[in-house]
Amino acid sequence: MNVFEHGTVGGINVKNRVFRSATFESMADEGRVSPSMTEVYTNLARGEVGLIITGYLCFASSDNPSARTVSIGPDADLSGLRSLADAVHGHGGRVVAQLAHVGSQLHGAPSGEVFAPSAVVDPVSGILPTPFSVQQIETLVTEFGEAALRAKAAGFDGVQLHAAHGYLLSRFLSPVYNRRTDAYGGSPEKNARILSEILGEIKRVCGAAYPVWVKLNCDDFETRGEGLTYNGMLVAARALDAGGIDAIELSGGAFAGAWTPCRPLKHETYHLEAGRQLAAEVSASVISVGGFRRIEAIEAALSGGGIEAVSLCRSLIREPGLVKRWRQGDRSKAACVACNGCFNPGGVRCFFDLKGEERDAQKQVMAAMKGKA
Ligand SMILES: Cc1cc2nc3c(=O)[nH]c(=O)nc-3n(C[C@H](O)[C@H](O)[C@H](O)COP(=O)(O)O)c2cc1C
Repeated sequence: MNVFEHGTVGGINVKNRVFRSATFESMADEGRVSPSMTEVYTNLARGEVGLIITGYLCFASSDNPSARTVSIGPDADLSGLRSLADAVHGHGGRVVAQLAHVGSQLHGAPSGEVFAPSAVVDPVSGILPTPFSVQQIETLVTEFGEAALRAKAAGFDGVQLHAAHGYLLSRFLSPVYNRRTDAYGGSPEKNARILSEILGEIKRVCGAAYPVWVKLNCDDFETRGEGLTYNGMLVAARALDAGGIDAIELSGGAFAGAWTPCRPLKHETYHLEAGRQLAAEVSASVISVGGFRRIEAIEAALSGGGIEAVSLCRSLIREPGLVKRWRQGDRSKAACVACNGCFNPGGVRCFFDLKGEERDAQKQVMAAMKGKA
């Protein structure tokens, strides 16, 4: 498959196979899409990124998102979300809304009670969460459906469930964090049940044709190897495939893992083999994410069969015009050096675009984050 081949991936018609993976911009204004966010999306679409997955959006009554997180809850500013989707469509791109629940992996102080699958202390926030009751899980499933319906109304081409990297849904899949003994925990099948229910609810309220994607970890790389591993992921992926999931983006790691999702420069295409294996098992489109920086590596990933698209995060923060540059014939590798200096609480920006005091302040954030991102 050619990088610039038109076609359908995960139920969405795209103009090429290089996507932007979900990137939390930390740019929302009290939960609303800000003009600087719309500018980021416009630049990516102008740069010919085939499809953009939004940074995680929050909506659940049991969640504690920061004010810098865009809300797609009942209070959401749908006009802001619509302007974002319109900006992407205006430049021939596609856009998928990532739906998330932060769970206990908070990066700031919570505004209310913190819920998780089980009462296990969160290694990132240090919080001991309250386990979800079954009734609260049912409410959450309903709220996922309502949020997806809002995404559809705002013009998004589909939604993606964030079930990776240590946020709530991935914690349900982890034997370390899910110690439940009811219908929602205790075996790989039961751990995956909430995801299947959410998928079913979204398809019910949005219609079977509305694309629903999921981002899964191929492995949590939990420090003792006790988290989700490939076989547990496969159980969840097969259940979702049977339920009609349209695409699976395969990532790995967590902020508290032996590996985070954002590895250093020397690691290239680090989840590709797991993605290839998964693609042989499911009929959903499989997208590989993690360490794509050379167009030759993307061509190789797509040519092996199975992988239908790849997604990039940090390289597109550094160069929003990367895909266009490659298409126009400048095939030199992405300029990103994977320093992770783009994790900027004041709003995602490439570290190398910062100057003076901003740069010094970000150096301190990076030092505090060392080993965590
Ligand atoms: C600043 C930043 C924000 C991110 N936000 C999200 C997010 O909201 N949702 C998500 O699923 N992954 C998020 N990720 C992970 C990326 O989507 C991706 O999986 C990871 O960076 C590896 O891809 P890369 O090597 O191309 O950067 C984020 C990564 C970075 C650097």
